[in-house]
Amino acid sequence: MSERNIGELCEELLRRREEARSGGGAKAIEKQHQKGKLTARERIDKLLDPGSFVEIDEFVEHRCTNFGMEKKVYPGDGVVTGYGTIDGRLVYVFSQDFTVMGGSLGEMHAKKICKVMDLAVTNGAPVIGLNDSGGARIQEAVDSLSGYGNIFFRNTLASGVVPQLSAILGPTAGGAVYSPALTDFIFMVDKIGIMHITGPAVIKAVTGEDVTSEQIGGARAHNQISGNAHFFAANEEECFAQIRKLLSYLPSNNMEEPPFVETDDPVDRTEMALRDIVPTNPNKGYKVQDVIEKIVDNGEFFEVQPMWARNIVTGFARVGGYVIGIIANQAAVMAGCLDIDASDKASRFIRYCDAFNIPIVTFVDVPGYLPGKAQELGGIIRHGAKLLYAYSEATVPLITLVLRKAYGGAYLGMCSKDLGADVVLAWPQAEIAVMGAEGAANIIFRKEIESAEDPQAERAKKIEEYRAAFATPYQAAKRGFVDRVILPEETRLEIYNALVQTEGKRALRPRRKHGVMPH
Ligand code: HXC
Repeated sequence: MSERNIGELCEELLRRREEARSGGGAKAIEKQHQKGKLTARERIDKLLDPGSFVEIDEFVEHRCTNFGMEKKVYPGDGVVTGYGTIDGRLVYVFSQDFTVMGGSLGEMHAKKICKVMDLAVTNGAPVIGLNDSGGARIQEAVDSLSGYGNIFFRNTLASGVVPQLSAILGPTAGGAVYSPALTDFIFMVDKIGIMHITGPAVIKAVTGEDVTSEQIGGARAHNQISGNAHFFAANEEECFAQIRKLLSYLPSNNMEEPPFVETDDPVDRTEMALRDIVPTNPNKGYKVQDVIEKIVDNGEFFEVQPMWARNIVTGFARVGGYVIGIIANQAAVMAGCLDIDASDKASRFIRYCDAFNIPIVTFVDVPGYLPGKAQELGGIIRHGAKLLYAYSEATVPLITLVLRKAYGGAYLGMCSKDLGADVVLAWPQAEIAVMGAEGAANIIFRKEIESAEDPQAERAKKIEEYRAAFATPYQAAKRGFVDRVILPEETRLEIYNALVQTEGKRALRPRRKHGVMPH
């Protein structure tokens, strides 16, 4: 047998690689660029640390022979998969290549995605999906459906084990949107990212409604209205920067602590401005981000879902180098009351932090639950219950700071001592009570007010009486429901001390398969 020439064999490998890297060909790449989209490989290069990407399965091909598919074979089968690093930390990635049959997902395309998901779980690293696909590859029929099924199954098993992030960088339709929905965070790019179950044509045929893809599935629609997405980006570069930033707060898997980052921002930095940002008048609004930014390391707060359910604020920051997850009522929006969407947003975020060992700091200034028919019939009972459930279930350190109002059920819902808070702090203007002074006085002093010579004056007097006695943190502090009443300017150090104190927290729970969270 003649010996084969190693030089030629290497040449062949390089030629095959070159072919695989050309995706659907120059014309299709040009079309992709014309749509304002990067190619699958350009995206990976921009997302990962330069030169860190290692590709897997670049020669995988489909084996479909229906409808002339044997003539449409592309090495890599429309998805680029592999691993690399972000800020030096390992991540797995798959990037759908729209230039190859519209990035459609068939049997082998799905197998490639499943392989990197399995590697991510086995090796304890995040998996990032860059989605740009016409959905199930129609020619591959049930094989492509099975492909999606395998991905959904893995998404679910990986949930709470490794971070799973989805960027929507093109069309995502039908069942294809359910894989992103099963992941932890969805990033959408304006103008190019679309997600819907049924598109405009089907909607028109079934319900007669005239809608555009952008209206039902665009980045704005899902960030502002449906709450399906967590991050809005003006372009792909911004989207990748957001992904990198988010990962800087997350551990690589649920067995690790989140990344500690040494800070030169002194933990005992005092901030007198905190005395003035929150007005003592409970009816006045302010932006809670202004409070948060004064407290956290270098004023850096990375908000999650900033455009949806804005009456509650969620996000990541650090105090003294420790990563924290923040939940805060937003007094500037609907007075910070809790409603269906706020409960959904916060409870999921709490469960996320709990799954990935991130201590939770809750900033409370809440008048109560939003009253109204739409809320009651929309299921505020079960949605609101999620918040109680998520806090009670959480075993990470729970630190609660009452800035101002903490009334009634919402006081409990915002991580009171009884729901498991390890440390409860309160500012001097905190009002921890069943309700606000005016409502309370009207009810409990009704007879005295009605029978008084000057009911108006009597009412004002009784409100003041109630306010002085109960609209304070001291009733709760007397019972130990508040551990410390603190000076606003010392909040940063107080939170840092609480984090250090609770670092070794161990919370044991009875064994069970899993709880049944309200839905
Ligand atoms: C096979 C597909 C495809 C698909 C696109 N292509 N989608 N091939 N299966 N699902 C091919 C096109 O035939 C075309 O091939 C190339 O990709 C580029 O598509 P264009 O239509 O030219 O691109 P564009 O105009 O940008 O439109 C993109 C699009 C459109 C909006 C995504 O292609 C489209 O509507 N596709 C079908 C979407 C769909 O109904 N998917 C099934 C969803 S159901 P050529 O050879 O001409 O370049 C689903 C079920 C999952 O996903 C269930 C999980 C439980």
